[in-house]
Amino acid sequence: MEKKIAVINGDGIGPEVTAQSIKVLNAIAEEFGHQFSYTHGLMGAVSIDATGSALPEETLAICKESDAILFGAIGHPKFDNDPSAKVRPEQGLLQLRKELGLFANIRPINTYRSLHHLSPLKSKQLEGVDFIIFRELTGGIYFGKRTLTEDKTYATDECAYHELEIVRVSKMAFQYAQKRRKKLTLIDKANVLETSRLWRRIVQAMAMQFPEVSVDYMFVDNAAMQIIVNPAQFDVVLTENMFGDIISDEASVLSGSLGLLPSASVGKAVAMFEPIHGSYPQAAGKDIANPLGSVLSAAMMLDHFGLVAEANAVREAVNWTLTHAFVTKDIDPINNYGTEAVGDLLADYIRKKHETNEGNNASLNASTII
Ligand code: IPM
Ligand code: MN
Repeated sequence: MEKKIAVINGDGIGPEVTAQSIKVLNAIAEEFGHQFSYTHGLMGAVSIDATGSALPEETLAICKESDAILFGAIGHPKFDNDPSAKVRPEQGLLQLRKELGLFANIRPINTYRSLHHLSPLKSKQLEGVDFIIFRELTGGIYFGKRTLTEDKTYATDECAYHELEIVRVSKMAFQYAQKRRKKLTLIDKANVLETSRLWRRIVQAMAMQFPEVSVDYMFVDNAAMQIIVNPAQFDVVLTENMFGDIISDEASVLSGSLGLLPSASVGKAVAMFEPIHGSYPQAAGKDIANPLGSVLSAAMMLDHFGLVAEANAVREAVNWTLTHAFVTKDIDPINNYGTEAVGDLLADYIRKKHETNEGNNASLNASTII
């Protein structure tokens, strides 16, 4: 299979984690006989510094001509601490989502037994945690009208949703639920917000078309608590843009490291794959960032291409590094490996496993003895 992949490294640790995904994708391409080509584009703070724009036309064009986008991370403290900045790195990402019609952001949350001790939750609460968040990504308060009075004493952000925006992402979530444990939870604030009541009406109506899916409704404040007290109750979680942003960061810590979690943004045409962590500027260039969130996002990309065996080979490699403690500093502060080394180990595992069909240590080359 031939695939054109747009690569947007972005800011902070984006370039180094994305580089490990490319290593892994190259190993998959070699072993399974595919051709993946990569075209790099700028976005975010690096792009503002180089071009003045957070999303140059050229990057948008590269993305539109590709089969998928692999994206690193966005954001830089010099913009975070300057509320009057005219151009912000995040605008590039928001514009890209909008331009490409990436209306659904899919964030799987699961836990690894070998990492239970890193989770802020007790081990018994982590048993059976396996859910997936469908976050609406191109509507709501993120894209509503904004105002600021001239004297800068009054500001507004509008939260608006059209029925069609709710229907398309909800349908995707229901279809997904049908393939999983057949449970869907809509998270909203229907006791207060009109947009939430619209979401509820639409989801209630859609539930009739999916009688085998059981649907429940949860206010976002309660959901924030339930994710901590009983995360195993969730299967498919559906929610609007802003609530999805917040609860997915909350849910991400269950696994023990934010650095582990992947995401896919899908919609009308080309899809985008990115780790859910941010740009973590303090770690940039230090070879300490966890590449697994990016690598697992690349696995979601392979799934999206229909390359399921290849995606599973990547996930198996990831599990192998975790169970053998070939991990970065966020997971083991004492005995750890660098970002590059973890990427090499993953790529080696994929190559050797495929050749020898036995994934034991002995079959791996010298990179295991770092
Ligand atoms: C995310 C990020 C973005 C968002 C930021 C960088 C604009 O937090 O993908 O979750 O809020 O959507
Ligand atoms: Mn976020």
